[in-house]
Parts: sequence; C-alpha cells; structure tokens
Amino acid sequence: MAGPDAAFWDDRFARGDTPWDRGGAGPQLLEWLAAGVIVPPAHVAVPGCGRGWDVAELAARGFDAVGIDMSAGACERARMLLADRGLRAEMVHADVCAWRPARPFDAVYEQTCLCAMHPTMWRAYETALAAWLRPGGTLLAMIAQRPRREAVDAGIIEGPPYHGDINAMRMLFDDARWEWPVPPYARVPHPNGMHELGLVLRRR
Ligand SMILES: C[S@@+](CC[C@H](N)C(=O)[O-])C[C@H]1O[C@@H](n2cnc3c(N)ncnc32)[C@H](O)[C@@H]1O
Repeated sequence: MAGPDAAFWDDRFARGDTPWDRGGAGPQLLEWLAAGVIVPPAHVAVPGCGRGWDVAELAARGFDAVGIDMSAGACERARMLLADRGLRAEMVHADVCAWRPARPFDAVYEQTCLCAMHPTMWRAYETALAAWLRPGGTLLAMIAQRPRREAVDAGIIEGPPYHGDINAMRMLFDDARWEWPVPPYARVPHPNGMHELGLVLRRR
C-alpha cells in the first residue's frame, strides 16, 4: 500500500497530532442537513471518520450512521464519543477500499478521507464508494485543497493531505457513474488555514 498506513494514523491519534480535527461536526455537513440534502432515517456511511464527530451528529439526528476507520485509536475514540453522548451508531475498524457493507447506503459523507490516501489508492476508493451506495444515493464530499506549487511543477506527490484537484476529481468520479452539479461549489475554510470543496454527487 502506497502512502500512510494504519500505523501512521494510529500514531497521529496517539500523539494528538490531528490538525484536521475541528472538534465538532463539519460546518458544511450542518448546512447540508439544514437544507435537507439528506434526511433521517437514511443509512449513511462516514469513511475515515476519525474521532467520530460527524457520526455522532448524524446519529443524534436520527440517521442510521456507520463510521469506518482503519485506525484502531480513531475507532476507540469515536466509540467513546458515542457512548458519552448516549448515541447508537456502528463503528467499523477497516480499510475503506476493501470493506463492503452488508446492505447499501443511501448516502456517504466523505470528510477528508480521500486526501488522507495516496492518489494511487483513489481508484479503489471510488470503486468502493460506488459499490456502497444504492442507485440514486448521495455522495457528500469534502475535498481538501492543498496545492503545493513547487512539488506540482516537479511532478512530486506530497501529502497527506493530498491535494484534491478538481480536474482529478472529475476524472475519478466519472460522469458515467456520478451525476455532477454545475459549479461553483461550496468553498469551506478550515481553522488550520486550508479549505475544502464541498461536492454533492449522485450515484447513477
Ligand atoms: C484527515 S483525517 C479525517 C478524520 C475525520 N473525517 C475528521 O475530519 O475529523 C483522515 C482519517 O481517515 C482515516 N483513513 C485514512 N485512510 C484510510 C483507509 N484506507 N481506510 C479507512 N480509514 C482511513 C484515518 O485513520 C483518519 O482518521
């Protein structure tokens, strides 16, 4: 496997070196929920859910939420968060590229999991998300924007976070499988200085 593995992520959680962590549910998820883009009791996956803030938010609102993460430390922290809040949601300790659900999801909330994976893993990830979702299902994706000009000019791939260039996203989430809305897309700032693009795609 190219790029960061489970031990890398476990180490980040163990050391508390998690600058991506907002300490609460993603602001764009809250906007999408307020707008009714997905509604309870939809069956929703949160791949690479980290500490589980978004899983907890969805569970609290009556969604049938499932968090998936390859870091045992992340899963443990997410289970503790759910227990502390008295919420029920499934947590799965697995590699999102390999794992398949027992029944299809209505929606996936992708909060910067793609940017955590080396681009050579992206095709397997897209294949997994397409397999998880029912036809007509919704992919809510927060794609980290982190271009590094000098590295790009030299053809060097740097990360995590790996930059989710919109051209690469258009090619990865192929029109044949995914229905794209017309741009512009939501630009969501992060307290760490980066920003994310918020995309709502439909599984054909
Ligand atoms: C940048 S963090 C985002 C965490 C969370 N979504 C958040 O915003 O707080 C990326 C997360 O994806 C997980 N991850 C990375 N690659 C993964 C994979 N192949 N399968 C499952 N989880 C993965 C990491 O363990 C980490 O928790």
